[in-house]
Amino acid sequence: MNEKKFRYAIYIVLAILILLFYTKDIDLFGQNFYENIKQIDNPDAIMVLVNKNYQLNNNYVPNDLEIISTSYAYENKSLRKEAKEAFEQLSEDAKNLGYKIVATSAYRDYDYQKKLFEEYTNEKGEAYALECSAKPGHSEHQTGLAVDVAGSNDDYDEFESSIEFPWLKENAHLYGFILRYPKGKEHITGFKYEPWHYRYVGMEVATIIYNENLTLEEYYNKYL
Ligand code: DAL
Ligand code: ZN
Repeated sequence: MNEKKFRYAIYIVLAILILLFYTKDIDLFGQNFYENIKQIDNPDAIMVLVNKNYQLNNNYVPNDLEIISTSYAYENKSLRKEAKEAFEQLSEDAKNLGYKIVATSAYRDYDYQKKLFEEYTNEKGEAYALECSAKPGHSEHQTGLAVDVAGSNDDYDEFESSIEFPWLKENAHLYGFILRYPKGKEHITGFKYEPWHYRYVGMEVATIIYNENLTLEEYYNKYL
């Protein structure tokens, strides 16, 4: 091998090593979703990671659920105390700025999530259901730390085109919430972009996630 070829070979090896380094934690093709599923052993932790590979027990119900005031939510929507208080503050501050942010869905138990997933599957087929809805035990809504919101156009599905969306996107972290399923990170989260779904993780972590444009999965890989 002459010197030039040898140099090329070194460059190629280096490029492969760099590529491997940056993609080692990323499930590039979503092949591992719902495989090697692990049971969650810290369901009450505010930082709990629930996704297609980490599953909550079907009996898990948070013990500090509180109903969100109907000034900020549809009827009978609850979140864990800390998340509920943060959400009410967020919604109140938004209201004082002339916005309207209401919770349309919050805590959902295992059986309700099961029903939702089955409905999606029956109506749109399993492939679509898998992109949009978590299987029971795999939804963050079961933690009481996730909330779906609607803006002044009153449709969570159209939240991205509401006047509230740009405000919430830039301010949710100040209240401890993150946009959980961002655009462009579907291969990491396993779900389609959901502009309406926010997850409470506390202000400190939410601020890091916001500043560094991470998903919760990436935060875990980088910091925990
Ligand atoms: N739509 C979200 C991913 C859920 O079902 O929890
Ligand atoms: Zn949601």
